[in-house]
Amino acid sequence: MTHRPVISGTGLFTPEESITNEELVASFNAFVDRHNAEHADAIAAGEAEALTYSSVEFIEKASGIKARHVMSKAPILAPDTMSPRWEERPDGELSIMAEIGVIAAREALAKAGREAKDVDAVLCAASNMQRAYPAMAIEIQQALGIDGFGFDMNVACSSATFGIQTAADYVRAGNAKSVLVVSPEITSGHLNWRDRDSHFIFGDVATAVLVEDAAIAPAAHWDILGTKLKTVFSNNIRNNFGFLNRATPETAGTADKLFVQEGRKVFKEVVPMVAQMILDEAERLQIDPKTLRRMWLHQANSGMNRLIAQKVLGHEASDDESPTVLDTYGNTSSAGSIIAFHLHSEDMKADDTGLICSFGAGYSAGTVFVRKAA
Ligand code: COA
Repeated sequence: MTHRPVISGTGLFTPEESITNEELVASFNAFVDRHNAEHADAIAAGEAEALTYSSVEFIEKASGIKARHVMSKAPILAPDTMSPRWEERPDGELSIMAEIGVIAAREALAKAGREAKDVDAVLCAASNMQRAYPAMAIEIQQALGIDGFGFDMNVACSSATFGIQTAADYVRAGNAKSVLVVSPEITSGHLNWRDRDSHFIFGDVATAVLVEDAAIAPAAHWDILGTKLKTVFSNNIRNNFGFLNRATPETAGTADKLFVQEGRKVFKEVVPMVAQMILDEAERLQIDPKTLRRMWLHQANSGMNRLIAQKVLGHEASDDESPTVLDTYGNTSSAGSIIAFHLHSEDMKADDTGLICSFGAGYSAGTVFVRKAA
């Protein structure tokens, strides 16, 4: 008996608080003023470089980002902290990453009309895990009341599509009928809010995708036509935070223990790689890329998406063909393409074909071609 994987529901948790570019730049520039005043002598003596202002115009033009949601706004904007802050929770309480994952997961289950007890597995697929163990996925599994198994997986910005293929493979192999892929992305914790080159990039969110065997899926679902993954090693997006940092305590707090990138190189190298990957996979699946009704692309940069969509569709994509959520969500790492899919798929008609596609650190890229069933 063959098992066909489908997407039967998606869910989204959006933090209430949001930071506009204006607020972000005002906070950053206040930090710059303060830093330069504190180091005025060293700067005047040529021993230190003055920091430079950030700009709202640059951010919007270079990235398309206008605002980002965050879990903890005031401490991020306060020049003294410039990072999120909340009370550490006792071990007996649901952890913050699991909490937002559970909210997104519940929505995905509700959309599919699925009871948690009928789910077989939970994959927590995200760029950063809150702790080493026990796995976030197992905590989410327990909070939802799922009898099965769960594990964490991290493929940076491509975690969700890698999670979807993994879930689809469980279904294809007959090892599971219903698998939740949950992507809680609290990116504000690994973003260097004091770095002009990157302080505007990320936002917080959680998404969930329920991948199921067509045999048990609700009538309104998305057939998964094919999935494809690719990785190519690159240091151009890197974060050296890890459990071995304590072996070199003298560098444990340096900037490379947060997100760092060579943005220009990433842009130049990833766009052709992803466009070609999409075209090759479309050919393998015998889908004419020009017939794609919609592309839900990774949400890192509007310019990257414009170029990729153009190469795939053969013309400049409209917002309808390649919707963006960058303006309000910023880059939410692995969750970006799933937010776009969640928010911009209700209007699709039966037999419409679309593409969920992610790309980012690793480098890593994943494609999920889908077709609306009903
Ligand atoms: N405000 C004002 N000016 C800024 C600035 C800021 N916040 N940050 C950088 N600049 C300046 C630079 O100093 C540089 O000035 P110069 O030309 O005088 O040297 C100029 O703007 C261009 O900087 P650059 O870093 O080359 O900008 P960019 O056009 O490449 O845009 C990104 C930066 C990050 C938006 C862009 O490279 C990008 O999106 N890359 C894709 C990768 C990505 O987002 N990955 C995330 C993980 S998937």
